[in-house]
Order: sequence, then structure tokens, then C-alpha cells
Amino acid sequence: MRNWTAGRRQAIRAMAGFVAGSPLFGWQQDPFRDHSRVPKLEELLTGLDFEPVAYAKLPRWAYDYTAYGEGSEFTLRRNRQAFDWVRLVPGAAGSGQEPQTATTILGTPAAFPILVSPTAAHMQLHPDGEPATYQGATAASQTPMIVSNVASVPFEKIAPAAKGPLWFQLYPRQDVESNRELLDRVQAAGARAVVVTVDQQASVYERALHDRNLEAASLRRLTGGTRGAPRNPYRVPEGRLWYEWKLFDQLRPMIKVPMVAKGILTPEDALLCLEHGVDAIYVSNHGGRSLDYGPSSLEVLPEIVDAVRGRVPVLFDSGVRRGSDVLKALALGASAVCLGRIPRWGLAAYGVPGVQKILEIVQTEFKQAMAATGRSTLASIDRSLVRTDFP
Ligand code: FNR
Ligand code: LAC
Repeated sequence: MRNWTAGRRQAIRAMAGFVAGSPLFGWQQDPFRDHSRVPKLEELLTGLDFEPVAYAKLPRWAYDYTAYGEGSEFTLRRNRQAFDWVRLVPGAAGSGQEPQTATTILGTPAAFPILVSPTAAHMQLHPDGEPATYQGATAASQTPMIVSNVASVPFEKIAPAAKGPLWFQLYPRQDVESNRELLDRVQAAGARAVVVTVDQQASVYERALHDRNLEAASLRRLTGGTRGAPRNPYRVPEGRLWYEWKLFDQLRPMIKVPMVAKGILTPEDALLCLEHGVDAIYVSNHGGRSLDYGPSSLEVLPEIVDAVRGRVPVLFDSGVRRGSDVLKALALGASAVCLGRIPRWGLAAYGVPGVQKILEIVQTEFKQAMAATGRSTLASIDRSLVRTDFP
């Protein structure tokens, strides 16, 4: 047995490390601290607690791939800050009812107005990749998962891993007809909606570029030298600068399920989506990865909701970390909220149970936030619940 003083010193160090990772001391930008002890899953209390564990378990480049934003990461930070600019109005007397959170999003039933955002390459985070994320999401009250077009595992191989609802996210190819085969396959395999992402057209990720320079030798050893190699020195992607609105008209006949436009940040673009046959608007700045110095998604949400006037559902993501964030986005008019980095941290930190637990934490916090503000139904969550101090 170790002597008491050494044990105590170690315990204090471990506790200090754990506390330093808490949201009181930082957030996703600052998990770089002593990890002398990785906490057990049961010890994690908030979604933010998972990020330092993910950091401890991942190689630096994989951690950075999840964490980074575009350019100076101003918009990445602003996504979080925006939630601080929304105050909740306390409700002294509620209805006394347990909060009812079940809803239907574009025909997909969901126990909470919460989905998993499409994010790339889950095998960077865990060897079991997207099937594990899907199992974790399904275990968390059948949370619908949107599978990325650039998943590590093909949609058809993810679909048999669990029985929860799946949607598919498409990065359209310029030769419109060449999208058909993929769209046919994912719809045959059970995709209940198709999310067409239209943002992220010319992003530069400085952290990734630095990682490539700093870790080039070890990365080359790991990957045979090809992983993430930029095609030009500044990685300005040539691939996605051709998008036009008629794309939605061209894709529409290939998509038998609801079609969603992801990456909408202005009322004007939302209205154009409606003109081009889109079934839902997905307000998102790609988690701060699209246009640095663009607005946070939250501050533009109300004006987009006003323009859409309830004609189609409005999905929302970028910066959601807590149940109260979900409540604020719904109060500002979102029909449902999606989580990008949260399930990634859960997967990297603990695999399937990590995904399940991090989603359940947000779900529970959301319910608690509803109860604390006296709103026991989703329909009762409206703008009277919040005061905004957007600049
Ligand atoms: C993304 N996002 C994304 N979006 C998309 O449409 N297709 C994709 O393949 C990816 N890939 C991806 C990878 C990583 C590592 C991240 C962090 C994000 C954007 C994602 O769907 C979502 O918009 C943001 O992640 C939401 O912000 P939060 O929740 O991460 O703050
Ligand atoms: C990203 C791309 C894959 O954000 O959407 O990394």
C-alpha cells in the first residue's frame, strides 16, 4: 500500500486536474492541463467534463480536428459567448407537471428536441467509429443521428448497428447526377431525411496546418504520409465554391424523404431555401468552422425564425453544451437542436457509454431547465422565456 501522504498528494493533484477541466475554469478552448488521473465515467457531471478526457485520450491532431474553428476562432468562441447573452426569465410557479419533451421532427419521433449533428470521421476518435456513436445515441432515448457524408464507415454499415432513427448529410457533388447513386443507397438503407450542407466553402484551419508542420514526421509514420495532406499550401478547398440555389431544385427529385438545408445564417438565404423546395432550415455556422468573424448561430436565429414564419421547422446548432442552451435555442424559435462536438467528446472519452451518458446529461439538464422555468411543455417554450443582450 502507498503511504498516506503520497496517496493524499496524488489525490489532490488528481482533483486539481479534474477541477481545472470543469466549465468554471475553462471550456473547450482550454483543456490543456495535468491529466495525472483520467476520471471514471460515473464521475463526470456535465458535458464539458468530457472534453479534457477526450483530450487526454486522443493524439493531438485528432483532438485538434474536433476542437478547431476557422481562422482566429473568433466565431468558435462567439458561439459559446452568445449563450451568455441570453438570460432565462425565472418562472416562480410552474404547472406542477413533469416536463413533456417528446416531439416529432420532420416525421421522425424523438424523446427530446435534440439530434446528433453530422460530423466527419468518428474512427479518429474511437476504433468503433460511427456505429458506436449510433449505439450510444440510440441508448440515450433513441436520439436521432445525422450521419456525415464523410463518415469513417459507410451509411449501410452503420444502419444495422442499432435501431434508432438515422438521417444522412450530403456534401453535394458538382456533377448533380453523380449524387443520385449515393442518395439512393442511403435512402434504401433507412435515411429518414437528407441534410444538404451548403456552408464551409473556403475554410482555413490554422491549428490543423500547425499540427501538420509540428507533427509531420510522426503523422507520416502513422498514416503513410497521406492523411489530411492539403492539395495546396493554404488548403483553400476548390471543391465547394460552385454551390448555387438551383442545386436544391436539381436534388429534390432524388430525395424522397424531407430535404434540409444546413448552414443557413441569414433570413434572405432562409427565404431562398423555401423558394427552392427545402423542407427545413438548419441554422448553423458549422461550429465556427465555416467563416471566421461570421455571427454566432444563436444571435441570427431569431431573425431567421421570423422570416420563416413557421412554414418549415428550423433546426439549430453551434455551441450547444448544456440543457439550458437547448432551452434558450428553443425559446428563440428553434424546433430542435443538434449537438456536434458533444457526442464526439463522449465517443473519444468512453466509447458507446460515453456517447450515451453525455447525451443523457444534456437531456436531463434540459428537462431540469424546463422545470426550473415553469415550462412543462415544448409548446410553452417561447420568446417570453428569454431576454437577449446580443450586441
Ligand atoms: C463538423 N460539422 C460537419 N457538418 C457537416 O455538415 N458535415 C460534416 O462532415 C461535418 N464534420 C464536422 C466535423 C467536426 C470535427 C466538427 C466539430 C463539426 C459541423 C457540425 O455538423 C455542426 O454544425 C457543429 O459541430 C455544431 O457545433 P458544435 O455543437 O460542435 O458547437
Ligand atoms: C469539417 C468538415 C468535414 O467540419 O465538415 O471538418
